[in-house]
Amino acid sequence: MLVAGNWKMFKGPTETARFLDELEVPAGVEVVLCPPFTSLAEATGRGIAVFAQNVHWAAEGAFTGEISVGMLLELGVEGALVGHSERRHHFGETDETVRLRCEHALESGLRVIACVGETEAEREAGRTAEVLTRQVAAIPQHEHLVIAYEPVWAIGTGKTATPEMAEEAHALIKGLHDTQVLYGGSVKPENAAELLGQPAVDGALVGGASLDPASLAAICHAAVS
Ligand code: PGA
Repeated sequence: MLVAGNWKMFKGPTETARFLDELEVPAGVEVVLCPPFTSLAEATGRGIAVFAQNVHWAAEGAFTGEISVGMLLELGVEGALVGHSERRHHFGETDETVRLRCEHALESGLRVIACVGETEAEREAGRTAEVLTRQVAAIPQHEHLVIAYEPVWAIGTGKTATPEMAEEAHALIKGLHDTQVLYGGSVKPENAAELLGQPAVDGALVGGASLDPASLAAICHAAVS
């Protein structure tokens, strides 16, 4: 079981240090934390895997606002999130840039959590399978890559996919890609056990509920119960 906390644009270095002082992780679950870039150095070296929230495909260059694999490795960062829906919808991330970021990160020694998911309009139009198939096709197969299924309508909204909806999407993704699949979208201590109990759900990508150490720990306990 893998439980990843995506902190988005929350927690500078001071809050990051406080969080790590308080976090207690049960045995049997791997925790990955994804703090903002400026908190990465504070988070590494404390026995918990640290991933960046994005990574560029060039080794270096004139790419204002981007960050390279080498810069992350130098800090002890182990991996990166790629293609989060907030990157896709607010910052123009495409299937092609997701592919470039994934390929370069994996070739350069980072682990990757690549995110896919349909919007509410796509689900209502019966296009979920088509959208997931297209997004998954852009993601390379690699032993250090896992996919996170995050229905866009469930992210930060308090709406969660039913366990059956998650299971169906995960089974589809696993039919296309031989990988672990995490579920994301309003995962919290109250719903984690039911979602993580589905056979095709291999862990969780948690946003809001990962900002509090007790809440993240409770999700981890649900993951191994
Ligand atoms: P949420 O975010 O848990 O706050 O819905 C999940 C994510 O964006 O990874």
